[in-house]
Amino acid sequence: MKNFFLSFLTGLLALAASAQEPAAKGFLLTDSRDYQSLSGQWNYIVDPMDTGIYKYHMTLQKPSVRYFADRHFFQEINSRIEYDFDKAPTLRIPGDWNSQSERLYYYEGGVWLRRKIDFHRIPGRRWFLYFGAVNYQCMVGLNNTILGTHKGGFTPFWFEVTDVLREGENSLVVYVNNARGVSEVPTLNYDWWNYGGITRDVLLVSVPEVFIKDYRLRFDGSSAEVSVTLDGGSVPVTVEIPELKIKEMIPETSSGMTGISLTKKKNKPELWSPSNPKLYDIVITAGEDRITDKIGLRTIRTEGDKILLNGTPVFLRGISIHDENISANPGRCRSEEDVKALLEVAKELGCNFIRLAHYPHSEQMVRLAEQMGFLLWEEIPCYWNIDWTSEETYANAENQLLEMIGRDANRAATIIWSVANETPRKPERLAFLGKLIAKTRAEDPTRLVSAAMEKKYDKNQKYHAIVDDELIALTDLISFNQYAGWYDWTPEYCDTITWTIPAGKPVVISEFGGGARYGMHGSEKFTEEYQALLYRKNLEMLMKLPGIAGFSPWILKDFRSPKRPLTGIQDEFNRKGVIDEQGHRKQAFYVLQDFYHKNQ
Ligand code: GCU
Repeated sequence: MKNFFLSFLTGLLALAASAQEPAAKGFLLTDSRDYQSLSGQWNYIVDPMDTGIYKYHMTLQKPSVRYFADRHFFQEINSRIEYDFDKAPTLRIPGDWNSQSERLYYYEGGVWLRRKIDFHRIPGRRWFLYFGAVNYQCMVGLNNTILGTHKGGFTPFWFEVTDVLREGENSLVVYVNNARGVSEVPTLNYDWWNYGGITRDVLLVSVPEVFIKDYRLRFDGSSAEVSVTLDGGSVPVTVEIPELKIKEMIPETSSGMTGISLTKKKNKPELWSPSNPKLYDIVITAGEDRITDKIGLRTIRTEGDKILLNGTPVFLRGISIHDENISANPGRCRSEEDVKALLEVAKELGCNFIRLAHYPHSEQMVRLAEQMGFLLWEEIPCYWNIDWTSEETYANAENQLLEMIGRDANRAATIIWSVANETPRKPERLAFLGKLIAKTRAEDPTRLVSAAMEKKYDKNQKYHAIVDDELIALTDLISFNQYAGWYDWTPEYCDTITWTIPAGKPVVISEFGGGARYGMHGSEKFTEEYQALLYRKNLEMLMKLPGIAGFSPWILKDFRSPKRPLTGIQDEFNRKGVIDEQGHRKQAFYVLQDFYHKNQ
């Protein structure tokens, strides 16, 4: 008994010493939380001239909501007779504005959205306004009080409104601006639609005075560490995993941690994996607050060129996905049904892995993928050439990273954090991404870190591809995009191309593929036959690569992109999906499905 206690204690202290306090960008939200959804029809006013912001004599400059918030121009919008929300049309929230209104299809700029909230105070409670995501930057006001701003279109943020709310009717106004900017993240140029608006849930969350702000789970295969952060005071905390007969106390604390040994027979967990996505209820109690969440216990690491899931090599049978629903008129996914439809197609393909490109997708997507048994690659939109030397750009990118990790750090499904996609090889980029990678490891040492890199072709030897990005020294994977048979020659050349790839790390092809218009047949580009051949040839070529550990072909579904105008074929869709925007399976779908079923 004594020895066990001692080793347990030393273990606990060691854990305490090793674990540096996460930067805690989490606001714990599970179905067990008490909240009011603010979904529905919101009035909106389009403001291309930012009239609600600019005074007529103001010197014009690049709109930064932070700038205007500090100058209390909010009242302005409410005092203008021309700005009458009650008379204004409505948009369904959550939902981007581009797919809801012909007039807003291409719109990039400012839009004001207003929703009335009927509120009744309960003594001893606090209230937070929680936004799942707003693209791209926004300023939020309640009853004419500016709560704050946020930048970054794909991660959650929240404001405490306990003292701003009034009994009865309240007016919530959100100014959203999705204008692109050279120093933003992403920057001016990217290959997806710049869907603007309040694209994910808005909730009014009610919590006790002292509440569980967040918790972080770390599992090393035999013991789990649960660190809990409270907000509003210090109280004793209990952590339970009832099915494993675990009940641990953390003495009075505002942020404490407990170590749980899971080696005994009675509490040896079933490990989470795609073939057995076992989830356990975890119950955390602190004073009057009580939260139940679902967790999976698994380990992920690399060993040489193998990716080990729960200590066993795993091959990533993947597909890449954009956050866009299956529909004749697609837009950002805005419901559980939307994300489920995408995941069911991936399941039908035989996938066990999904690359969520190129930005954090919704929490619904991540939690459902976890329930359905998908391993996930999550990424922040440092996409192509961003402003590497700008401190503001770095702070923005890091903030999006911490918000993504803060939201999904407890998800067993997420195994890879990616800090970038197809970025130019130059020193300032390496420094920028190097800092992000270091931050990721400090924030979460339990997952793999990588980026979607590129290959180059050997100038002296035709059809010789070389992968030697300096970034590989900093990442856990050699993951890169390649488009043999599409941007590079034709599919047949896959038989000829030779590769030089460093050894010693798992190789993951984060993108390959080619376009096809569903229903178009023949042998030339954009026919289904061409795409199918390209898939066959690429799969043959890639499976011969030394260290190959998986891939996520580009892409599951045709998706909107303003960079793809080819009339009659693309019609503003990137046509590299193996299904089209309405879900029609192309021939390549069956080539990939066949391959994955044969390589289960
Ligand atoms: C790039 C990029 C994708 C893009 C794809 C394409 O590799 O990462 O965002 O859509 O290629 O060209 O279709």
